[in-house]
Amino acid sequence: MTRKPLIAGNWKMNGSLGESRQLVETLRHGVSAGASATMLLCPPYVYLPAVRDWLQGSPIALGAQDIADKPGTGAYTGEVSGQMLRDVGCTYVIVGHSERRALYGETDAVVAAKFKAAQAAGLLPILCVGETLEQREAGETRKVVERQVAAVVDSAGVAAFAKAIVAYEPVWAIGTGRTATPEQAQEVHAFIRGMVAARDATIAAGLSILYGGSVKGANTRSLLAMADIDGGLVGGASLAAAEFLEIFRAAA
Ligand code: PGA
Repeated sequence: MTRKPLIAGNWKMNGSLGESRQLVETLRHGVSAGASATMLLCPPYVYLPAVRDWLQGSPIALGAQDIADKPGTGAYTGEVSGQMLRDVGCTYVIVGHSERRALYGETDAVVAAKFKAAQAAGLLPILCVGETLEQREAGETRKVVERQVAAVVDSAGVAAFAKAIVAYEPVWAIGTGRTATPEQAQEVHAFIRGMVAARDATIAAGLSILYGGSVKGANTRSLLAMADIDGGLVGGASLAAAEFLEIFRAAA
C-alpha cells in the first residue's frame, strides 16, 4: 500500500493562544522529518498564522477546519477564502464536517462547492462523510454515505479525488467515546473506495480514507490495521499532546 498514513488533529473551537503554543511545542519535538506518517494540525482560523510560525522547520502540516464556498474574493462577510488559507501556510482543509452539516445547515451542494473552492486554491480538501445513529439503526449507512460522496464526485468529477482525502466519521462516534469497531469502519471504508473505483480504479487505489470518531492511542493500531483505513481525523484526543503523539506513533 502506497498511501502514507495521515493523522489529522481537528481542534474545533478549543484552546487559547497560550495553550495552543504549548501543544504545538510538545508535538513538534515528537515528530521527526523521516516519520513514515504525516501529522496535520487544524487549529481555529485566528491561530493559523501563529501555529504556522511555531511549526517553522517542522514536518507537521497545517490545515483549516473550514473554507468559504466561494472562490476568489468578494463581499462575503465573515468568510475566509482558500487563497487566504494558502497565504497563512495551510495545505489542507476540512470540508463537510458533521458539525458544519448539522449545526450550520451545510448541504451536500455547499460541501461540494467548498471542496471545489479548496482545490481551486491548491488546497487538499478532507471531505467528511458519515451517518447518524438513527440512520445506522435504520440500515441507511451506505445510502447516506453514498449520497454524501456522490454529491461531490458528481460535482467535482472523479479525477478531483486524485488530490483529495475522504474521512469517514460516523456521527454517533464523534466525541462520544464510542468508537466504531475496526470491522464496522472497514466495511464503510471499503464501500467508499468501491464507489470511487467504479468510476476510476487507479484514483480509488491511491485515495486516502481516514477514520474519525473517538480515535485514541489505544484504538489506533487496530483501526489502521484494516486494509482501507489510511489514517485518523482526531478531535478530542488531538488537544492532549501525549495522547495525540501516541496516536501518531501507532500510525507511523
Ligand atoms: P472526536 O472528534 O475524535 O472527538 O470523536 C472527531 C472529529 O470530529 O473529527
